[in-house]
Order: sequence, then structure tokens, then C-alpha cells
Amino acid sequence: MASKKLLEMLNEAIARELQVSIQYMWQHVRIAGPHAAAIGGVFRATAITEMKHAEAIAERVDYLGGVPTTKPAPITVGEEWKEMLQLDLKAEEEAIAMYKEIIALAEKEGDVTTAHMFRGILEDEEEHHNEFGTLLQEAGAGAAAEAAERPKRRAARARGRTRARR
Ligand SMILES: [Fe+2]
Ligand SMILES: [Fe+2]
Repeated sequence: MASKKLLEMLNEAIARELQVSIQYMWQHVRIAGPHAAAIGGVFRATAITEMKHAEAIAERVDYLGGVPTTKPAPITVGEEWKEMLQLDLKAEEEAIAMYKEIIALAEKEGDVTTAHMFRGILEDEEEHHNEFGTLLQEAGAGAAAEAAERPKRRAARARGRTRARR
């Protein structure tokens, strides 16, 4: 049977999955600006994957004789896309570290199924981490290019006005 420690860690994992499933879905709802369409779609799809993780882990806790928590860890939506992605990168990093601990403990206890399940979930979290990191870089580069273009456009408009006055 699973140790008390492992059941506690599994419940902490559920709390995290509930947190990010709400966090990402609300970011999808709240994101605004030029990156809303591209990044918002990723938030929504990832939120659904996280809810599936929560369900799978809850099924496992139930099977192991525990009671799955209903309480999400603290939810941090953020205000603008960059802050959202930074918060999400951090959440994924924490999940990756924690799930590696769960795999190690489950293996130590001979709980092959839990270890196997978390290997699959870990793979998803690493993919999310990669995706959020890439979006942060790409959108960041796009925003920087836009900012660099702005003074040029302003100068071009000013030149246009000067010419028109002549
Ligand atoms: Fe997850
Ligand atoms: Fe994730």
C-alpha cells in the first residue's frame, strides 16, 4: 500500500493540477492584445490537459485508499501575456521537480503504476514548459521588433506631414 508520504504528495500534485487548469483557462479568458489569439489558444488546450492530469491522479489516490483533495493550490492569473507566461513557466518548473520526486518515491515503495503514470505526466509538463518558454521568446522578440519599428513609423509619418505642408 502507498505510504502516507506518497499519498500526501499525490494530493499536492492534484492541488497543483487543479490550480493550473483554472489558471490557464482564466488566462485564456483574460488575455488581451496582439498575442491574444496565438497564446490564448495554447492556454486553453493546456488547461484541458491539466484537468485530465488532475482526474488521473485523483483516480489513483482513490484506488490507493486516499481521499483526493478538491482544493487547488493558489491560482495566479497575472495581468498581461508576459507575466502570465512567466507565472506558467514557474508552475511547470515546480511541477517537473515535484513529479520527479513522486516517481522516485513510488519506485522506492514498489508502486510501479504510480511511477509509470507520473512518467507520462512528466513528459506532458516538460512539453508545456518548452511551449511556454518558446512563446515567451517569440512574443518577446515580436514585441521588441514592434517597439523598434514604432519610432521609424512615427518619423515616416512626420516626414509625410512635412511634405504635405509644402
Ligand atoms: Fe499537469
Ligand atoms: Fe503542465
